[in-house]
Amino acid sequence: MFYNYNMCGIVGYIGKKSALPIVLEGLKRLEYRGYDSAGVALWDQGSGKILWEKTTGRVAALETRLSEKSWESHTAIGHTRWATHGKPSDKNSHPHADCAENIFLVHNGIVENYAELKEALTREGHVFRSETDTEVLVHLVERELTMGNGKVVLEDALPEALRHVIGTFGLALISKNDPGKIVVARRGSPIILGLGEKEYLIASDASAIVEHTKNVVYLHDNEMAVLTPEDLKIYNFSKKILNKSIDKIDWDLESAQKGGYKHFMQKEIFEGPEALRNVLRGRILSDIGKVKLGGLKDLEKKLKNIKRIIITACGTSYYSGLIGKYYFEEFAKIPASVEHASEFRYGNPAIGEGDAVILISQSGETADTLQALREAKKRGALTLGIVNTVGSTIARESDAGVYNHAGPEIGVASTKAFISQVGALSLIALYFAGNRGTLPETLVNKILPELKLMPGKMEQILKKDKEIKKLAKKYLKYKNFIYFGRKYQFPVAMEGALKLKEISYKHAEGYAAGEMKHGPIALIDENFPVFALVPKDAVYEKTISNIEEIRARGGKIIAVATEGDEKIKKLADDVVFIPETLEALSPLLSVIPLQLFAYHTADLLGLDVDKPRNLAKSVTVE
Ligand code: AGP
Ligand code: GLU
Repeated sequence: MFYNYNMCGIVGYIGKKSALPIVLEGLKRLEYRGYDSAGVALWDQGSGKILWEKTTGRVAALETRLSEKSWESHTAIGHTRWATHGKPSDKNSHPHADCAENIFLVHNGIVENYAELKEALTREGHVFRSETDTEVLVHLVERELTMGNGKVVLEDALPEALRHVIGTFGLALISKNDPGKIVVARRGSPIILGLGEKEYLIASDASAIVEHTKNVVYLHDNEMAVLTPEDLKIYNFSKKILNKSIDKIDWDLESAQKGGYKHFMQKEIFEGPEALRNVLRGRILSDIGKVKLGGLKDLEKKLKNIKRIIITACGTSYYSGLIGKYYFEEFAKIPASVEHASEFRYGNPAIGEGDAVILISQSGETADTLQALREAKKRGALTLGIVNTVGSTIARESDAGVYNHAGPEIGVASTKAFISQVGALSLIALYFAGNRGTLPETLVNKILPELKLMPGKMEQILKKDKEIKKLAKKYLKYKNFIYFGRKYQFPVAMEGALKLKEISYKHAEGYAAGEMKHGPIALIDENFPVFALVPKDAVYEKTISNIEEIRARGGKIIAVATEGDEKIKKLADDVVFIPETLEALSPLLSVIPLQLFAYHTADLLGLDVDKPRNLAKSVTVE
C-alpha cells in the first residue's frame, strides 16, 4: 500500500497543451483534503514574464479571478494551501516570489528553522511579503542565483539553497530567467512525476495525475527533478543523475485520493505516526532536555503563575484532554480538571485570573468548545488552544496555543488528530514542568527520547492490521461491548468505545476498570465482550483482577497488552500485543488496535466509514 502523507497540494504541467486548465483541474482533484487557499504561476512565452494569481478560499475563487485574464502557457504550477505558519490570507497563499519577482515557488511541508533564516535573509536585504515559513525558500534560491551572477541554473541553485533548510518540503518552482522548465524537490512531503507524450506533470498525490497518465515516478527524499517539454531528469542533491523506475498507477481517481487506502479513515489511522512526528517536529530540544513551544513563548511569565488548568473539549478531543490531565498533574504538578465543553459553558464555572483553560479542537470550529472559550475569557482565565486547523475561530480567539500540524483529517471519526493532541498535551505539560522545575532531569531525559521513538513503535502495531481485521471478523456478531482501563488507559477505553459506536453503530461503553464492580459488571455474560486495556504499568495487577472478575462471569476478553506478557495469554480470549513504553505514553500505542478494530468492524458491515450516519466532521451547531 503506497503511503502518502501530505499537508496540502501541488500540481504542475509542462508540455504542448495549455497548462493552466490542467493545473486548475488537478488542484480540484486535491480539494478532497481540505485547504484554505489556492494559487497558480505560469510562464507566459509572449511577454517572457511569470504571471501569477492567488487567493484564500476555493479553487473556484481562483478560477473566477483568472476568468478575467486570457492567459495562455505551456508551463504552470499550482498550489492548495493547508496553512501551518501565517493565517490564511491572499498574501500568505502560494506561490511565493523572490524580491525581483523572477522566481515563483509553491511548497508543501514545514520549514522548522524559517524564523532564523528569515532574520538572516532580511539582514541581507531581502524583502518579505508574507508571514509564511515557505517564503524563505524562494529567497534562499534567489540568494544562490545572485551569488552565481547569472551563471547558475535553477537546478544548481536549489540544492544549495535547501542545505540551509530544516524541516519538510515538497516544492516546485519556475523562473523567468530560466524559462520552459519546472524544477521540483522533495524531503518528507511527496512529489509524484507523471510521464506523458512530450508532456510532464508533477503532483503531491496521484489523484491530480491519474487522468492524464498512469506512468509515474515517485521522487524520494533529497531528490529533485528538472522537467522540460523535451525531457525529465532526476538528480540527488549532489546533482548525480538518477535512473528511477517507472511505476504504473492502477488506481482510479477515487482510490488515488485515498493514497491507495479504501477509506480516508484508514489512511488517517496509518498517518498517525507521521502526525505525531509533525506535532513533535522542531519542538523537542533533546540536547538540553527541553520543549520549545513558539506559540507560548510570549506567555512564559504568565504561565508560571497559573495555579489550575481546566481542559475543555468535545468527543475525541475531550478524551485526549483526559490524558492531558494526568500529564499536567504528574509532570507539572498543576491541579487539572477536564470538562465537556457543552457542560462547562453552562455550568457557571468558578474560574478567573490564575486559571488556564485549554481548548482542544481538531476543526477549531466546534460550537460548544468555542462558546466555552468565550465563557473562559469573559471570566478572565488565560485560554490556550490545541487546534489542527490554522486560522480557525478557536485558534484565532484563544490567547495563545499550539497547532497540531497533523494535516487535514477528512474521515468523520477522528484518529490521527487524537494521536496528535496527546502528543501536543505531553509537550505542553513538559513545557510547564520545565518552567517550574517540577520534573527531575532524569525523568525528562527518559520521556523526551521515548516520545521520539513512539512513531516507530506505532508503525509496529500498524503492521498487525490483518490480525486486527481477523479479530473484527471474529467479534462481528456481537452487539454490545465494554472497553475498560485504568489511569492513562481509562481515556483510551472511552475513545475506543466512541470509535466503535460512531462508525459501526454498535453499542459500546468505555469505563474505568475499577468501576466495573459498581454496576456495569451486571451486564457481563458470554454475549458482552470486553476490551481490556492492560499494558504493563503501575496499575497492571489491578486491571488483571478486573479481568479475572469478568472471566468468572463468563465474559469474553479482548486484551491489549505489552509484548512478552505471558500471564494475559491465559486470561484473555484474544490479545493484541503492543510494544513496551512508558506508562504516560502508552495511550499513543493502545489506541491503535482500537482504531483499527472499529474501522474493520464498520467496513466488514459495509457501512459508510468516512461519513457515518447522523454525524458531521465539525459540529458547528449547538
Ligand atoms: C470523534 O471521532 C468525532 N468526530 C467527534 O467526537 C469530534 O471529536 C468532536 O466533534 C470534536 O471535534 P473537534 O475536535 O473538531 O472540536
Ligand atoms: N507551511 C506552508 C504554509 O503554511 C505550507 C503549508 C502546506 O503544506 O500547504 O504556507
